[in-house]
Amino acid sequence: MNLKDKVVVVTGASSGIGEATVKILVKRGAKVVFGARRLEKLKTIAESLPDDQVAFKETDVSKHKDVVSLVDLATQKFGKVDALYNNAGIMPIAPLSDDRRDEWQQMLDINIMGVLNGISAVLPIMHKQGYGHILATDSMAGYESFPDYAVYCGTKYAVRAILDSLRKEESSNHIRTTIIAPGAVSTELYKSIGDPKKAKDLVDYWNSSDNSSLTADDVAEGVAYAISTPQRVSINELKIAPSAG
Ligand SMILES: NC(=O)c1ccc[n+]([C@@H]2O[C@H](COP(=O)([O-])OP(=O)(O)OC[C@H]3O[C@@H](n4cnc5c(N)ncnc54)[C@H](OP(=O)(O)O)[C@@H]3O)[C@@H](O)[C@H]2O)c1
Repeated sequence: MNLKDKVVVVTGASSGIGEATVKILVKRGAKVVFGARRLEKLKTIAESLPDDQVAFKETDVSKHKDVVSLVDLATQKFGKVDALYNNAGIMPIAPLSDDRRDEWQQMLDINIMGVLNGISAVLPIMHKQGYGHILATDSMAGYESFPDYAVYCGTKYAVRAILDSLRKEESSNHIRTTIIAPGAVSTELYKSIGDPKKAKDLVDYWNSSDNSSLTADDVAEGVAYAISTPQRVSINELKIAPSAG
């Protein structure tokens, strides 16, 4: 894999898929700048990795200025941004009849605006460089909708549309886009679910039988592959599902 000295910015890096991606990219020689809201978690991850390959910053992707600062840290410390991986997301599932409007707003702000804030922060830099790669964690829920997942699915459908349009707008500027679309992955994502029974049901499902969920590393390997491909290759969408699902 050609990742040596690539500079990659990763959001939502304090746990799950983001954390696993940071670790795999660093192991393969990339320089990684990563962010999330839980600073202590970021510090612990950084301590396990070589200093000269990482930088991190407390980042709330729903705040444009935070994402701009994270991307700026990459250019200040490493001089360029080869790829931005917009991974941060939450999944507070509930039926629409529960009327959890605050959670709907948070999903729009994090899952959609977070990706748009990333695009806004990095596009000017990639235009100047004359190349770049923008990725986002989408989901199987970006292709099919389910009861209780209406708003979450809506955000993931939106991310798929946004990255698809972006690729078509920016191909002449040598900017590629990839959505990573996993099925069930055993992570901390259940913690954003407000209803404790629904959270427990999801974790039980993830743990229900062999191969019913992926590991974060399974998905991170896909991200590393997409970033490692040469400029002539565009991995537009990468679906990664449990073999039993
Ligand atoms: N697990 C699955 O089954 C699955 C399947 C398909 C897609 N996905 C997607 O995969 C992505 C990663 O989720 P995960 O499964 O790895 O769950 P996770 O372990 O809960 O990771 C989510 C990450 O997003 C961060 N985050 C949440 N809100 C944020 C905000 N406002 N600003 C910055 N970072 C924020 C969290 O960190 P802080 O709380 O520290 O900010 C955490 O690092 C999400 O986009 C999710 O929708 C997950």
